[in-house]
Amino acid sequence: MNALLPRTPLPALSGPPGDRLEVVSAWDADTPYQSWRPQALVPSTFRPATAPRVYAVVNQKGGAGKTTTTVELAAAWAAAGLRVRVIDADDQEAALSEWLLPQYPEGAVRHSLRSVFFDECTLLEATYPTTFENIDVVPSSLDLKRVEYDRPIGAEMALATALREEAAANGGRSPYDVTLLDAAPSLGLVTVAALTAGDEVLVPLAVGGLDLKAMAALDRTITNVRAKTNPKLGVGAVFLTAWDKSGFARQLASKVSEDYPEAPVFPIRRSVRAAEAPIAEQPVRVWAPESTAAADYGQAAGVLLPGGSV
Ligand SMILES: Nc1ncnc2c1ncn2[C@@H]1O[C@H](COP(=O)(O)OP(=O)(O)OP(=O)(O)O)[C@@H](O)[C@H]1O
Ligand SMILES: [Mg+2]
Repeated sequence: MNALLPRTPLPALSGPPGDRLEVVSAWDADTPYQSWRPQALVPSTFRPATAPRVYAVVNQKGGAGKTTTTVELAAAWAAAGLRVRVIDADDQEAALSEWLLPQYPEGAVRHSLRSVFFDECTLLEATYPTTFENIDVVPSSLDLKRVEYDRPIGAEMALATALREEAAANGGRSPYDVTLLDAAPSLGLVTVAALTAGDEVLVPLAVGGLDLKAMAALDRTITNVRAKTNPKLGVGAVFLTAWDKSGFARQLASKVSEDYPEAPVFPIRRSVRAAEAPIAEQPVRVWAPESTAAADYGQAAGVLLPGGSV
């Protein structure tokens, strides 16, 4: 076995504390636009989750912020000391597996999420360390497409079953406090399998690219998954990614909160640092711990699953 690279600890946030999102339980529709500050909406009915937790990060629109949301929540929870696994459920190149590089042991067969769908290995055997402390990854590549083409029997249930079997083999509890599934921009079989495996779905929406028809299609898929394969699936949160202060963003936030009255809605402010981080192969939290994007995701992570100071 080769020497694996040392693992970088996830840093604390270093932005000014006064720059955090205000947390409200109802949208402020009255403050004049000029003096309005970005707010995170946490409905009064909301209750934080406890570990272990499985989140599917889904939106079939491309570029909605799914991979960024997956990586930054993972980084925030890892910084809080939770054991986090991210699963690349996207067959595109330059996706999650190229951002958080898996550290493969030398000479061993390299597994991926595809191998799990085809029963070639367990989920744990397809899980590799990243170079970041407390974050492991299940990689994917173009060959994940084979799942859509070959449609192996039981594919919709494959991830839910793999997670259940893994917990059973570990004394009834997942070896990870948090598992995040980063979906492809499609509502194909792998995405349905991710929704079937999740306790909750997290929905990132790019403010500028909002498409109400796409949101309706996602809603229908969630409803179908609940009816057929995963009755417990809830909408855990909505993230308004690459957020800029505008009248439209404010309207969008209130529309989303009407559609998902029980879900927190988090604006994630636009930050050039967020766009740079994948190229640097680092979470934004490591690349720019002072950035608003790192702070906003850290705040969201602390609301959803308080695991210490994030
Ligand atoms: N808060 C932010 N500020 C600025 N840019 C951002 C922010 N969040 C995401 N981005 C950029 O937006 C682009 C799309 O983000 P991302 O790759 O996370 O979306 P995605 O939904 O995973 O895309 P795909 O559907 O292709 O998988 C990326 O270039 C990313 O760096
Ligand atoms: Mg992506």
